[in-house]
Amino acid sequence: MISIKQINEKDIDLCYELDSNTISLWSKKQWANEFKKEGTKIFGLLITNLVIGICVIQVVLDEAQINYFSVNNKFRKKGFGSFFMSYLIKKCEKLNLKKILLEVSQGNVTAERFYSRFDFFTVGIRKNYYKDGSHALLKEKKLTTK
Ligand SMILES: CC(C)(COP(=O)(O)OP(=O)(O)OC[C@H]1O[C@@H](n2cnc3c(N)ncnc32)[C@H](O)[C@@H]1OP(=O)(O)O)[C@@H](O)C(=O)NCCC(=O)NCCS
Repeated sequence: MISIKQINEKDIDLCYELDSNTISLWSKKQWANEFKKEGTKIFGLLITNLVIGICVIQVVLDEAQINYFSVNNKFRKKGFGSFFMSYLIKKCEKLNLKKILLEVSQGNVTAERFYSRFDFFTVGIRKNYYKDGSHALLKEKKLTTK
């Protein structure tokens, strides 16, 4: 059974483990900092009790910034990422937020295509943003408030 739940600080090891097995973005210390950030909500995508995806969102005023979004390699291309993203978009709309922002590496073709399907458009570029020298594309999706 698939479900989505909000994750709290006691599940930090879970987040770190999933990240280590996917994109290795943050250390355990960085994950700990995310949980402390004002306006941050962390969601897990689960199959029964197994966490297969994580999303970190930070709400500032009427905008949400996706700071982390990843699905475990073994579960990709099965529609789970889309299910998770659709849930988050609806959640942000219910909160009456105006837009969702995120950053994605210019070389990350899979993620770029994924976000395009959800009408995220490039609104800026940060040159040499990542450790490997690749540029970050700033993407934005406008929300329809209910
Ligand atoms: C981007 C990411 C979240 C997508 O997750 P996902 O679970 O694979 O997403 P989906 O399965 O919903 O969609 C991915 C593709 O699989 C296709 N797909 C979905 N179900 C399918 C199925 N049953 N059979 C065949 N293809 C399928 C989708 O149409 C989509 O195709 P596209 O690449 O043409 O858009 C995932 O690749 C990921 O975690 N990447 C690493 C982290 C990352 O880059 N994050 C973004 C930067 S912060």
